[in-house]
Amino acid sequence: MKYAALKGMEDILSPDIAIWQAVEAKARDIFARYGFQEIRVPVLESTDIFIRGIGQETDIVEKEMYTFTDKGGRSVTMRPEGTAPVVRCFVEKNLHTLPSPQKFYYMGQMYRYERPQKGRFRQFYQIGAEAFGVAAPAMDAEIIMMLANLLEAAGLSGLNFELNSIGCAECRPVYRQALRDFFGGKLQEYCPDCQRRYEANPLRILDCKVPRCIELRQGSPSVPDYLCDACRTHFDGLLAILDSFEVPYTLNPNLVRGLDYYTMTTFEVTSEHLGAQKAVAAGGRYDRLVAEFGGPDTHAIGFAIGMERIVTLLKESSQTELRAPKVFVATLGSEAEMEGIKIVEMLRAKGVWAEQSYGSTSLKSQLRRADRIGAEFALIIGENELKAGKAQWKNMKKGEQGEVPLSEVMQFFMEEC
Ligand code: HAM
Repeated sequence: MKYAALKGMEDILSPDIAIWQAVEAKARDIFARYGFQEIRVPVLESTDIFIRGIGQETDIVEKEMYTFTDKGGRSVTMRPEGTAPVVRCFVEKNLHTLPSPQKFYYMGQMYRYERPQKGRFRQFYQIGAEAFGVAAPAMDAEIIMMLANLLEAAGLSGLNFELNSIGCAECRPVYRQALRDFFGGKLQEYCPDCQRRYEANPLRILDCKVPRCIELRQGSPSVPDYLCDACRTHFDGLLAILDSFEVPYTLNPNLVRGLDYYTMTTFEVTSEHLGAQKAVAAGGRYDRLVAEFGGPDTHAIGFAIGMERIVTLLKESSQTELRAPKVFVATLGSEAEMEGIKIVEMLRAKGVWAEQSYGSTSLKSQLRRADRIGAEFALIIGENELKAGKAQWKNMKKGEQGEVPLSEVMQFFMEEC
């Protein structure tokens, strides 16, 4: 029997892992500057959290969740996204009692039972950020500018920031009714999912992927036309800040997002180099969610970046440098081997990547290994060298070689590093 990873779930290893780690390090650096603290929430949560948070009529909840009954008979779900668990934690731990705003970031696996294709996985990683407690558009702007800085620091360019406002509890019902009036005439022609969603949540019809539904909804009412004064003022305030900092964006009145918790500002960052799955990051405001989870009314906004998608873009745009050891210590004989172990340990203690031969094979095969793993230097210690208190070094890339007293080996390599 041959074992294989599950469909839509990938192993991540060298050389790609170096890109992942670099992006994560850049993200941590940017988050620290903006005062976002790391939060680690469980991968498994009570199913209700996602039904309540993301919405019963969404694709994620209806079709894509990894849900099962645990041994205690509870329905649990592998998190399909990070916002609902962070809100659950915010309410459970009474984090609203701490000084506002509270700002968090997370990195981790999410699970959605989607049809795998380029850029779409069943296990994927997100880097996400969530900020609680500020109503002002300055927070929307901070979140969007932080995301732009993070993507730029990671090495990405040419991305498109799409923005929209989808209104609030005040103006959304009016918009919903306008949608029902529009869809109602031809409702029988829409797919069964859309027909079912028509009453409960007609907004969801706007992100149905069925080609016939896309065709039918051409010319449907546009949400910005239905914004109340408060939502319009908020959105204009955000755009004014972005404009004054020359942050580029495109207004996309059709951007409604596939999760129900959003209010007002929504955004998506897209790339033309990714094919069908072109969103590299997305987010928005969700001012009602904390209250829906039993907490006090709390404004909130956040985003999540799809790691696989930005790694794909980075791989296309840059050469990945393979990491390789600086020094490979080849030894002959057990005494020389002890000396070799001492040297590699000392080099490692100084922060140098050093490898050893693990037992004596022939010098030829040891040097072949040094070459295969891409070591820059080989240091050779045989019995004669040991007696003379010396070692031979060889620069594997340049072909140069020479001798160095064992007592000066550390100094030699520290100067070379
Ligand atoms: P989302 O749009 O569902 O939003 O996902 C955010 C990003 O995760 C997407 O733009 C995409 O890059 C990536 N992504 C989603 N599904 C997959 C998949 N199957 N395979 C690979 N990548 C994927 C959220 O998850 C919200 N929680 C974002 C948010 C945070 N809103 C407010 N705060």
